[in-house]
Amino acid sequence: MEVYKIKGANRLHGTIKVSGAKNSAVALIPASLLANSPVTIEGLPEILDVWTLKEILEEVGAEVTFKDGTMIIDPTNVVDMPLPNGNIKKLRASYYLMGALLGKFKKAAIGLPGGCHLGPRPIDQHIKGFEALGANVSNEHGAIYLRAEELVGSKIYLDVVSVGATINIMLAAVLAKGRTIIENAAKEPEIIDVATLLSNMGANIKGAGTNVIRIDGVEELHGTKHTIIPDRIEAGTFMIMAAVAGDGVTIDNVIPFHVEALTAKLREMGVEVEEYEEKIFIPKPRSLQAVDVKTLVYPGFPTDLQQPFSVLMTQATGTSVITDSIYSARFKQIDELRRMNANGRVDGRTASITGPVSLEAATVRASDLRAGAALVIAGLIADGETEIQDIFHIERGYSSIIEKLQGLGADIRRVEVKEIEINNE
Ligand code: EPU
Repeated sequence: MEVYKIKGANRLHGTIKVSGAKNSAVALIPASLLANSPVTIEGLPEILDVWTLKEILEEVGAEVTFKDGTMIIDPTNVVDMPLPNGNIKKLRASYYLMGALLGKFKKAAIGLPGGCHLGPRPIDQHIKGFEALGANVSNEHGAIYLRAEELVGSKIYLDVVSVGATINIMLAAVLAKGRTIIENAAKEPEIIDVATLLSNMGANIKGAGTNVIRIDGVEELHGTKHTIIPDRIEAGTFMIMAAVAGDGVTIDNVIPFHVEALTAKLREMGVEVEEYEEKIFIPKPRSLQAVDVKTLVYPGFPTDLQQPFSVLMTQATGTSVITDSIYSARFKQIDELRRMNANGRVDGRTASITGPVSLEAATVRASDLRAGAALVIAGLIADGETEIQDIFHIERGYSSIIEKLQGLGADIRRVEVKEIEINNE
């Protein structure tokens, strides 16, 4: 079993570069299937989810190369193959194959997606959208079967603001007949990125990034070249690291506007944040004050950063409270942080953390991607050597994390160890 070992004495210093956005990448890659000639996507992060999607695209007949962050996808020979099992179960975002294949072939069979366990993660709004466009949707033995005579544009009001449903409906609607209107759409930067790719492929999309998106269906889509946006969650993770363990850290390749909610919270805690065009500098922090955080849809404080942020709260004076309004069970990091001497407790959708405390090294388990990121941050400031298990969760979403942190002077290594059960008493 491979684990991370982190020694927590070193202060971080220097520049760390952010990769392309994971949650854009996992939509851009399936979106490229809608074209009838090769699509090039530049700046992709080299993470497990991207490699898995490459394999899925190859399974349906696409020719794909991926080197130095550039993926070239030739969808010319793609077929409408059912994907009920296998790789499709390895990541949440495989649900984008539903929208892409339905849009292209008017039918698809896709296994229910995997991904992090953060409480219930229904896809009813995706299905409501597909049905509104004319698809017949059934759940047969854990796979979703979609079939349509033809797809016809429609007005769809999302009952829940959903990134996945907004993108999936866009994918299914770009080749549909007539106009689709998505109301109460999500506004995340990743949605604008996908709309930009589709528009450059010849789609007609207006309003991405606002809560009403209009799509006028076109006959066909062609290949193009696209550069992905930087990962705002990875950038935010590094900002939190700099605030808790930094001695002056520059985060490079970030759009400061995309991380405004985090920047505001860091400033409220007493952290200085200097913003430049594509960089953010965080000087050595002084004392931190407790703050309350409520996660919201974009542009609110992202749920994906509340777990890393909870580590910062262990170092702040007073009691901080986090409320996750997006996912009901996204607090699995708190138990692990408690093993490292944090003073935190979870009550339903709320976690409270009292600080400051000195964190102590322990053997801990990454239960999901962002919990894993939180434990890496905790390891960087803990006294002693922390061991993090189940690191595949972390590597699903953070590209070259070991090398990047070593570049800032962190003492972190990936090592092979014999599997030993963690005592959960
Ligand atoms: N929801 C429904 N019905 C639906 C879809 C969503 O009730 O049909 C609910 C969800 O249960 C959740 C809320 O709506 O409570 C928001 O879910 P959303 O659909 O926006 O999330 P997602 O598309 O499944 C993406 C990211 C997540 C990120 C969320 C929220 C991808 C692949 N995943 O998930 O990223 O937390 O948006 O911003 O884009 C991560 O990167 O660690 C991660 C989990």
